[in-house]
Amino acid sequence: MTDLPILIAPSLLSCDFARIADEVARTEASGADWHHVDVMDGHFVPNLTIGPPVVSKIHAAATKPLDVHLMITDPAQYAEPFAKAGAEVLTFHVEVTPTEADARAVAARFREHGVPIVGVALNPDTPVERVLPFLDAVDLVLVMSVFPGFGGQSFIPDVLDKVRRLRDEGYAGHVEMDGGLNAETLPLCAAAGANALVAGSAIFGAPDMAATISAFRASAARARLEASRVG
Ligand code: DX5
Ligand code: ZN
Repeated sequence: MTDLPILIAPSLLSCDFARIADEVARTEASGADWHHVDVMDGHFVPNLTIGPPVVSKIHAAATKPLDVHLMITDPAQYAEPFAKAGAEVLTFHVEVTPTEADARAVAARFREHGVPIVGVALNPDTPVERVLPFLDAVDLVLVMSVFPGFGGQSFIPDVLDKVRRLRDEGYAGHVEMDGGLNAETLPLCAAAGANALVAGSAIFGAPDMAATISAFRASAARARLEASRVG
């Protein structure tokens, strides 16, 4: 388990992009801890979103950290522009780094450019063993619970084993989950040991965002407590 605070990170992928500064303000007023920002390049995933100039505008509108999830094939090339745009958390996908040395090089590049929290993400079909050799180099592991590319997909419960394994291995950094999190699935993530919880459609689609975020936070805390009692 973990003592790290539970962090609720609404995914701006589900916001109204025409009013992004208002959406940032609304999620902060509703109790969000981080803003999850999905960057897609049309190569690593079959969708396109935003790049550094828009991230920089989001940063200017935000007072909470930006959690930037890079679904792109060449994260090292874009380390500097995303760091300069204000990414407090910057996460690359392990699938684009064939070797441990490649993964370490990307993490090092992010740090060189001053990124405070360096993360690595795993697709649902990527074994957790791919990241175990370089856990010392990252502050966050993002365990994807859907195949990346689109919001609104269904949670894949099998990936929870990877979260438990990371905590069993003694990983003390942030473990984040992303994809299909809602009132039913989010407590499962917290019980398995995840502390950073991303939700797009479940938060932006809720009639009362503040009530939803506070219910998510409370249910995650409860699930973590129950899991630590039995486990
Ligand atoms: C999917 C993105 C997610 C997405 C989650 O590729 O990485 O961050 O916005 O959306 P929901 O919570 O709707 O599954
Ligand atoms: Zn994401």
